[in-house]
Amino acid sequence: MSNAVMERPKNLITNDRVVGQPLKPADVISAKQLHFLRHSTTRVNVLEGSIRSGKTIISLLRWIIFVARAPLGGELVMIGRTRDAVWRNCIGPLQNAALFGKIADQVIGNYGAPTVRILGRVIHVLGASDAKAEKVIRGMTVAGAYVDEITVIPEEFFTQLLGRMSVPRAKLFGTSNPDSPSHWLKRKFLDRIAKLADWSSWHFTLEDNPALTESYKTSIRQEFTGLWYRRFILGEWVAAEGAIYDMWDPKQHITPWDSLPPMQRLLGVGIDYGTTNASTALLLGLGDDNRLYMVDEWRYDAKQAQLRLTDAQISQRMRDWMDQPHLPYVNSLKPEWTIVDPAAASFKVQLAADGVNNVINADNNVLYGIRTTASLLSTGKLLIADRCEGFIQEAPAYSWDDKATAKGEDKPLKVGDHSLDGGRYVITTTESNWRDYVDLAA
Ligand SMILES: Nc1ncnc2c1ncn2[C@@H]1O[C@H](COP(=O)(O)OP(=O)(O)OP(=O)(O)O)[C@@H](O)[C@H]1O
Ligand SMILES: [Mg+2]
Repeated sequence: MSNAVMERPKNLITNDRVVGQPLKPADVISAKQLHFLRHSTTRVNVLEGSIRSGKTIISLLRWIIFVARAPLGGELVMIGRTRDAVWRNCIGPLQNAALFGKIADQVIGNYGAPTVRILGRVIHVLGASDAKAEKVIRGMTVAGAYVDEITVIPEEFFTQLLGRMSVPRAKLFGTSNPDSPSHWLKRKFLDRIAKLADWSSWHFTLEDNPALTESYKTSIRQEFTGLWYRRFILGEWVAAEGAIYDMWDPKQHITPWDSLPPMQRLLGVGIDYGTTNASTALLLGLGDDNRLYMVDEWRYDAKQAQLRLTDAQISQRMRDWMDQPHLPYVNSLKPEWTIVDPAAASFKVQLAADGVNNVINADNNVLYGIRTTASLLSTGKLLIADRCEGFIQEAPAYSWDDKATAKGEDKPLKVGDHSLDGGRYVITTTESNWRDYVDLAA
């Protein structure tokens, strides 16, 4: 069974739209970037704020300057959530001559490798989500560290890293987007920064990146909504509270199945599997108006029916439903992918045994999926056919978990989310198939 989960840009926006834009010479570095460059001389130097605000690029320049004269007697490390993320977000840009000119030639290494050589110094590239990475750090003396997206690094890992930086003049440079105000980085460090003599931080907003055009800023402002707008665009540390889909409006989002527009494709069926909980299947189509439509839903709720089904029975009922017409007009479209909750191993085996084609694991990045769904809803690019009763019932009640929020984590409450999960799976996993058609900024 193949896994369709692909690496995609961290944000909804890709770098490509920004790189290569002509810049006025006077604007090459913004005042904030210059301030950071001149004054980032403390042990720990953090850049936090809006997406695309120029944090990474200036911190990478600072990192190169640091590496050129880094203290000896310890290792240099670059750390991100995964090693891949470090290569994609940091070393990739460093190797880009359009950004770093001749210095790019001095950044030597192949994408994904465990080390990179910068100005002749070997630098370890570590992914904090890799269990082995913490052990590696434990054994090290660190002379310098670059950390991509500090908030996604486990706190213990970060604490361990600080503890290893025992070389005199050792420094850490790190970037982050805002997260919850209870996140450890905010509560334990940024909120106390006045008292932390060896820490400095800089707050960046879109205005601090001289390369962004007004039209680009306008378009990314439209792509984010609610919580994400405040965090990623305004750069505020705000808590995830209350309704997750607070933009949900039945009048705007529900559409009669009978009057669905013609579909270009049926992108896939997203399946959330439960034995005691509900099992759901949500079918997503790409309309000829370049919007997404949740066209149909199948749902079996064992609790409600007071009868648990076997995997074979669930598969049978789901396949019976899949064979039925899903659109109100004659068509020959078939769902392209069957996208299953990655945890439902036994059920995937069952579907394959029953001859279901194109069964793949769902992308189960919950927060990314929620954010994407929220953007689609708020821009009117996702409509739900009135046949999708479970989705329609669950959407308004779907809420953030207060207990997790208090601990600085963003988590949805795990109640009444079965149809929403099926929907989220199919939306996120087929993103590369609809991305070029559905314009979130229009
Ligand atoms: N001074 C500059 N000159 C030229 N291009 C710049 C400058 N600052 C930023 N950019 C470009 O703007 C884009 C966004 O900058 P950068 O990646 O540093 O943002 P960021 O704050 O790290 O964003 P995110 O939070 O999304 O990671 C990059 O493609 C970068 O090349
Ligand atoms: Mg960045």
